[in-house]
Amino acid sequence: MTETIIAPSILSADFANLERDVKIIKDAGAEWAHVDVMDGHFVPNITIGAPVVKALRKVTDIVLDVHLMIENPEKYVPDFAKAGSDYITFHYEATKEKTAEVIEQIKSFGIKAGLSIKPKTKPEEIKDYISMVDLILIMTVEPGFGGQSFMPDCAEKIKYIKQHAKDDLIIEVDGGINAETGMVCKKYGANALVAGSYVYGSSDIKKAIESLR
Ligand code: DX5
Ligand code: ZN
Repeated sequence: MTETIIAPSILSADFANLERDVKIIKDAGAEWAHVDVMDGHFVPNITIGAPVVKALRKVTDIVLDVHLMIENPEKYVPDFAKAGSDYITFHYEATKEKTAEVIEQIKSFGIKAGLSIKPKTKPEEIKDYISMVDLILIMTVEPGFGGQSFMPDCAEKIKYIKQHAKDDLIIEVDGGINAETGMVCKKYGANALVAGSYVYGSSDIKKAIESLR
């Protein structure tokens, strides 16, 4: 895969105007909309749940890239799958020894499965799962909030994932991504970039998206 997938995070959109703000990124050329789900336990913030994914699914055909930053993701995978998610990514730190089961659970709904690691987790810890998933998401900030600064050390983990990946694996990065940090990640082998504040905070969203390619 050579093309870069751009996935603006709707965490930085206007929650009172989500339909409009998803249409804006789609019209500006974004392939995916990244949906950040936080439970106030796995991360210290609470955002949105499956009903919002369901509502968005009715008004857009953009790929919905759902990032679960929650404890016990297996409890909520059915809701998010039935709501119309295209990708469901959960955190290895939330599942540990039940990781393989959760991957299989997501796939059983006929959708794509992703596995994510936080900044302090080494890529070696998820080695056995790389061949099982469609996507690996490397966090380049501590998950929980948009608008934080990119952590360069985290981006280096992309190299390890790339070395152990099959050709069609999507390697996604999330946190502090802009044109400059996105370039660093692409050089290491990332082919999907999440960007929240950089895209939605821009006065020219189309230009911001194009600058990430
Ligand atoms: C952070 C979320 C990110 C966040 C990225 O916990 O997973 O998706 O929205 O925001 P920016 O691009 O502003 O760092
Ligand atoms: Zn995210």
